[in-house]
Amino acid sequence: MDRRSSKIFSKIIGIGSYMPEFRLTNSRLEELVDTSDEWIVKRTGIRERRIAMGKATWEMGLAAAQAALADAGLPGEDLDLILVSTVTPDSLTPAVSCVLQDKLGASHAAALDLNAACSGFVYASDVADSYIRAGKAKHVLVVSTERLSGITDYTDRSTCVLFGDGAGAVVYTASEEPCGILSTYMRAEGSLGQSLFAGALPSEPDPLTGDRTIPSNYRFLKMAGSDVFRFTATAVPESIDNALSRAGLEAGDIDWFVLHQANLRILKMVTDRYGLDPEKVYVNIDRFGNTSSASIPLCLAEMKEKGLLKPGQTIVASGFGGGLTYGAIVIKL
Ligand code: UT7
Repeated sequence: MDRRSSKIFSKIIGIGSYMPEFRLTNSRLEELVDTSDEWIVKRTGIRERRIAMGKATWEMGLAAAQAALADAGLPGEDLDLILVSTVTPDSLTPAVSCVLQDKLGASHAAALDLNAACSGFVYASDVADSYIRAGKAKHVLVVSTERLSGITDYTDRSTCVLFGDGAGAVVYTASEEPCGILSTYMRAEGSLGQSLFAGALPSEPDPLTGDRTIPSNYRFLKMAGSDVFRFTATAVPESIDNALSRAGLEAGDIDWFVLHQANLRILKMVTDRYGLDPEKVYVNIDRFGNTSSASIPLCLAEMKEKGLLKPGQTIVASGFGGGLTYGAIVIKL
């Protein structure tokens, strides 16, 4: 599929983020569970993560969306579509996107939430791109907002050291310039879904275990970390290779690799696999931990703030995680 056959491109015109102020440090986690700063840093690269402390998922998403719209210089009423990726919606209905549609005064916008877990931002960007290239939308807001602290079990050392809260947002607009999203590649491996699980509506009997009693930790994230880690070793290069080849590019043509921040070792694996200058692989997992789908737009917002993003540069962004899902997009600024 040659995605460059359409004359319309989805160009990024605004980026924003919101990070809660409260920092949960490794030393604080040492007081909660049997862990150590040394283990966490060595095995994950994480030093601290932010915690929403009472802020709702929609509130973080709204702040990120407002920042992205301000950056774009676009009023909410000009939006045609609002896509929110989250695994931690405040309610099953209304969707977070509908709450934002109201708060942003986006009176002409359709709104829907999308759950592709940690791949949510790249999946939502792919949907945004499809609407724009089909001529169904001119301006699309993608918001990835996650309050993982709400589904984290702070007695489980294998997960509680990993996750944090935050939100990032991007505004895409239809453009005839040959820039913006150049290619996308999305996949899922549902057969591995149970390796990263968080319950929603309990059913009787529990379809996973056959048990009739729903455990009190049903809603908490449970992860077979090493299984997911193994999956990333093939899924991440597969998504990057295919997105690059669909864009007619090679790794050497890319200015920035912006990957889901799940583990510093995964970022290093990609750096080695493509023989990259480590400076080209953006890292903020040390300060924010794993924020699921928010992690890629959070990176983009921080890179923009630091003046690292320049017109004409090319980025490959790769997301992977719950589902299991994975995917990559190539974006020219
Ligand atoms: O965002 C979605 C996508 N997520 C990912 O891609 C995550 C992929 N997985 C990972 O990043 C890693 O698997 C983890 C960071 C989750 C775990 O690292 P690991 O090197 O795979 O550790 P492990 O689960 O194999 O555990 C190794 C040891 C175990 O002890 P034994 O059995 O060897 O005695 C664990 O009990 O480390 C122990 N351990 C800990 N020790 C201290 C697990 N968690 C901790 C901890 N502190 N927090």
